[in-house]
Amino acid sequence: MQKHGYPIRQFLAFYKAADTKFRVHSPFVFELVNAVLEDQRWYYAFRDVEAIRRKMQQSNLVIDVADYGAAPPGGDAAHRRAPIRQIVQRAASSSRQGQWLFRLAQWLKPQHVLELGTSLGVGTMYLAAAVRSATIISMEGSPDCAHIAKANLEILGLHKNVQVQTGPFQENLPAGLKSLKTVDFVFFDGHHRADATLQYFEQCLPHVHAQTVLVFDDIYWSTEMTAAWKAIQQHPQVTLTVDLFDLSLAFFNPDFKNKQHFKLLPSRCKPWHF
Ligand SMILES: C[S@@+](CC[C@H](N)C(=O)[O-])C[C@H]1O[C@@H](n2cnc3c(N)ncnc32)[C@H](O)[C@@H]1O
Repeated sequence: MQKHGYPIRQFLAFYKAADTKFRVHSPFVFELVNAVLEDQRWYYAFRDVEAIRRKMQQSNLVIDVADYGAAPPGGDAAHRRAPIRQIVQRAASSSRQGQWLFRLAQWLKPQHVLELGTSLGVGTMYLAAAVRSATIISMEGSPDCAHIAKANLEILGLHKNVQVQTGPFQENLPAGLKSLKTVDFVFFDGHHRADATLQYFEQCLPHVHAQTVLVFDDIYWSTEMTAAWKAIQQHPQVTLTVDLFDLSLAFFNPDFKNKQHFKLLPSRCKPWHF
């Protein structure tokens, strides 16, 4: 359950505890921070995705939203009508998150990517633009959202390598994982419940390898999501975690002998660390 003000209190605690690249001794994590948090390069893809976001923010279109987040396993979705400008505001990855996803994918060059929660395709477009050679499966419960996401990917010419699969994760995830065989990059960005997150995490485990990264959004959304993240950190197969507050990453490389958990901010957020 989400407690009032929980993310704000969590951010203050995160900010206090977080380090910057100047206090990181792991060469892998130092490189990751440079590639994702410190890199200031601007890409044409950012302009293109943000132009689509602006268009959706100005749209008067109202669509049907099928919410599987509250449905019991195998149950029907709750339906409501919502303007897409509100969905962009509330559900889409922010430009900062999108650009971090882009930079992370560009650095790691994953070839098999899975996204749980397409919504209108903002994160999907950033990921697909970062690694055009990747095979991407993105899953979405709402047919109307999936339809708009597909149209957005087409506008940017990114649709060829992306399959947007419509339906509940509970039904589509096993087949999606089977068709990808191994996953290099999974973005968990839907169904913000601890039990569901841990179930999807467990389902992905047989498909991860030493170079896989699992990326979680919203671990500070609620106490139960923070508890789910702690359980993921403690999982014996996870060898390194990097918490950027807006995104949290779990790695599996067995060469990282001593399990470490980092909380990291861009160096400009703590300039006295220089
Ligand atoms: C936060 S949004 C995804 C945002 C998107 N990844 C982005 O970067 O813009 C979460 C999406 O997950 C979908 N979702 C949540 N639980 C689901 C479930 N159990 N099965 C299918 N879709 C689900 C919702 O319909 C919603 O569109």
